[in-house]
Order: sequence, then structure tokens, then C-alpha cells
Amino acid sequence: MTAKHFIDTNDFSKEELLKIIDLSLVLKECIRKGYYPQLLEHKTLGMIFQQTSTRTRVSFETAMEQLGGHAQYLAPGQIQLGGHETIEDTSRVLSRLVDILMARVDRHYSVADLAKNSTIPVINAMSDYNHPTQEIGDIITMIEHLPVGKKLEDCKVVFVGDATQVCASLGFITTKMGMEFVQFGPKGYQLNEQYIQQLEENCKKSGGRFSITENESEALTNADFVYTDVWYGLYDNELSEQERMDIFYPKYQVTVDLMKKANKTAKFMHCLPATRGEEVVNEVIDADFSIVFDEAENRLTAMRGILLYLLGLDKTDKTDVSKVKKALEDKMEEIFN
Ligand code: CP
Repeated sequence: MTAKHFIDTNDFSKEELLKIIDLSLVLKECIRKGYYPQLLEHKTLGMIFQQTSTRTRVSFETAMEQLGGHAQYLAPGQIQLGGHETIEDTSRVLSRLVDILMARVDRHYSVADLAKNSTIPVINAMSDYNHPTQEIGDIITMIEHLPVGKKLEDCKVVFVGDATQVCASLGFITTKMGMEFVQFGPKGYQLNEQYIQQLEENCKKSGGRFSITENESEALTNADFVYTDVWYGLYDNELSEQERMDIFYPKYQVTVDLMKKANKTAKFMHCLPATRGEEVVNEVIDADFSIVFDEAENRLTAMRGILLYLLGLDKTDKTDVSKVKKALEDKMEEIFN
């Protein structure tokens, strides 16, 4: 049996991603109007976390509840992916116990292996390679805050700072949508060749553009969205506070002065959590042009769409229900009366 997984947006066409986005927006409107379609009734989401999370965990749980389903939180350390039990066995077992799985993992191969061995859909809830559910929420947020008279394809998105998995993911989704993507970051902390190849491939198909630069004015001129993420570094090269300040401060800190170099209508975005005073200052994250909390809310918007898209409509054949219902009633009668 094969299942559709959500491991990397690059596994999907632009049209497929737009279907997920459309579905997410329609569901958002339903719920805003007080209609909670119970399309995931009796469905259970297994949530594997190797790291802590606020937005991802809460938005997945809320999305399942709102659509009539249920979520099980498997906290960091509760499941050993590739420890005592192999990832393959964990995946096969969970495929029998829940209807859909999500995993936030330290290493991308863990979520890829889960998916390879799973008969139910698996969602990548962030790895050291990418953060695809964040991508859907981010594009929805951009759609809701498009500059007047512009389409997504007309917009320039600038990521300021370290080449985190969120930076890579922002590059993936914007180039997939045919937008212009720029990473403004220092040498040594720029997207690597593997990412560049993917961005090139996306641009070839979509007509989008991308560049990586240390030149502030080249990066920020005509920018519609300015995005940043923490400077922690990832896994193998986690940086001390002093190291990250030496590398990124002050040039790559998003300040009001930096924002002034973008378009007048430019919006500020951040996947959160933010380290205020490092990659961004309070005057930016709390400004009217900051859309970071809309972005956080749209993690939930995205989760509903992704979950429903992967699970689809319940097509279980219910023609035999009356027979099993009768057998159950007979058995209950026999046992309890
Ligand atoms: N942006 C994001 O993934 O937030 P959490 O780590 O809180 O889930």
C-alpha cells in the first residue's frame, strides 16, 4: 500500500501545492464563520517530537480537534527513532495504530525513513534539511499581505542571515511559486550547493529567480517581504552567543534602518521563536509592518489543509456496517444480560 507523504514541497508540483493552499484558505474561512467540518472524525494523528515545539505541536493538535479528529503527542525521548527499535519497525507499527504521522526530527533521514516504511501519510514537521509545513503557512501569510496590485509572482522575498532549514524552505516555496528569492547572508553561512541546485530547478520550471549576496542594497532594494530566523547554527556547528554576534552582528540584524532599504510597503516575517536583540530588534518585530503573529496563526491554517489533503475524504466501504452492528449488539446482549 502506498501513502502520500509531505516530506519536501519539492516532491509536489506548484499546482498541487496551490490546491493545499486553497483548501487551507477555505477551511480557515469555514472556521472563522463558526463551521467546523468534521472531515477527520475518528482519525488519529501520531506526533513524534525529537525536539521541543510550540507552534507546530499546538497547531497540529488544534487542527485535528477542529476537524473532528484526535492527536497523540509522543514527547522527545518517548520514542527512540533508530534507537532500541529500528525506524523501519517503528514506522510499520505506527502505521497500524494511527491514521497519519508527523515527525520533528534531528536528522532528515529519520523522517525520510519513517515515510519509506509507512503505509500511512507521514508529514515532516521540521528536520535539519527543511520545514515544509512552515512553507505553506508562510505562503498563505504572503497571499494575505500581498502589496496592492501585485501577485505572488511579482514579489521579492529576502531572507536575512544564516542559511537555516527555514531559509532553505523559504527558498524552496518562493522559487516554486515563481517569486524572486534572495538570501542576504555572510559567506560560510549561505545556502550550499545542494540547495542551490534545487532552487535552480524550481526557477527553471516556474520562471522565478534567486540570488545569494552579502550586498545589503542589492538584497533589500524592491523587497516586498523581509524574513529572518535565529542565528544559532544547526546541529553540527551550533554557535555560542559570542560567535554568532561576531559573525552576524550588526550587518545581518533586522533593524528599522534595514527595513527602510526595502519597499515602503514591505512586511517583516519570522518563523519564531525569535531571539529579540539578536536577529531582530523589538522596534521591528512589534511594528505595524510585522506580520509574524499572522504567520504563527497560519501554521494552524496550513496544518488543516495539509492534513485534509493527505487523508482525503473517508472512502471506507460502509455497506457491511449493519451486519457488524448486529453482531456487536448480539454479543453485548449475551455478555451483559
Ligand atoms: N516555527 C516553528 O516551527 O515553531 P516551533 O518550533 O515552536 O514549532
